[in-house]
Amino acid sequence: MTQTPETHAVAGIIDGTAVAAKVREATKERAAEFTARHGRQPGLATLLVGDNPASATYVAGKHRAAAALGIATIDEKLPATATQAEVESVVAALVARDEADGVLVQMPLPDGLDPEPVILLVPPEKDVDGFHPTNVGAIATGLHGTASCTPAGVMTLLDHYEVELPGADVVVVGRSRTVGMPMALLLLQRNATVTVTHLLTKDLARATRQADVLVVAAGHPGLITRDMVKPGAVVIDIGITRTEDGLKGDVAFDEVAEVARLISPVPGGVGPMTIATLMSHTVALAWARAGK
Ligand code: GUN
Repeated sequence: MTQTPETHAVAGIIDGTAVAAKVREATKERAAEFTARHGRQPGLATLLVGDNPASATYVAGKHRAAAALGIATIDEKLPATATQAEVESVVAALVARDEADGVLVQMPLPDGLDPEPVILLVPPEKDVDGFHPTNVGAIATGLHGTASCTPAGVMTLLDHYEVELPGADVVVVGRSRTVGMPMALLLLQRNATVTVTHLLTKDLARATRQADVLVVAAGHPGLITRDMVKPGAVVIDIGITRTEDGLKGDVAFDEVAEVARLISPVPGGVGPMTIATLMSHTVALAWARAGK
């Protein structure tokens, strides 16, 4: 029997772990080619300020991933008591190192430190995170630039599962500078009809029910319930909140999976794509710098 979207028994599950493994495999090959050609490995430098456990875990994961792919790393740390001047001086020193193709300052910075000048200190050609306004502007205007890793990873997932974007009604929930906003720009570049919703959106459900593709990055566990999703929609859950019961996404997975066509779980959906994309960006920046 042919299934219409309305009669979907259960959604297909987006396997971010498997797609991330493919991205890492391709990145490892490109890294090895770079090393053979240039006599050094592509390099990623990170700075972690303070002792936020989640941030420390993320940074450790980035170093582990890099080592496994043949990417060299520089691992700088500063205490939470570091001054703005100290942070900026360490970032400037990392940027100046020739072997650092990508420079990443783990966010958020501890209270009292201003991320803005720090973001501007990492030049666009070493900005693996895609946070520099020049890179954001490049994405907005369709020019070549590095996009923020999580939304770039979502685009890889959508492409892998051959989700049709031109003309599709895509609703993004959340407009953060590092996820929701660049996500909307990347989708718009692909000719989707993009609606961006946020905390002040008057009727969120009215918007989300229109979505052929619903991308949620609100950081609000369980925000998206079954009644908010159009039958047959593709649902991408970027939200990751640590709770006593483990990691929780923004989508009430079990009930939404009953109406969606395709859905990304938490964990195992978008999460693994972020670090894999960061690795891929590092190697791409190394090749771009070497080509100059
Ligand atoms: N904090 C949470 N996610 C990220 C990220 O992708 N990059 C940086 N630098 N900090 C983060």
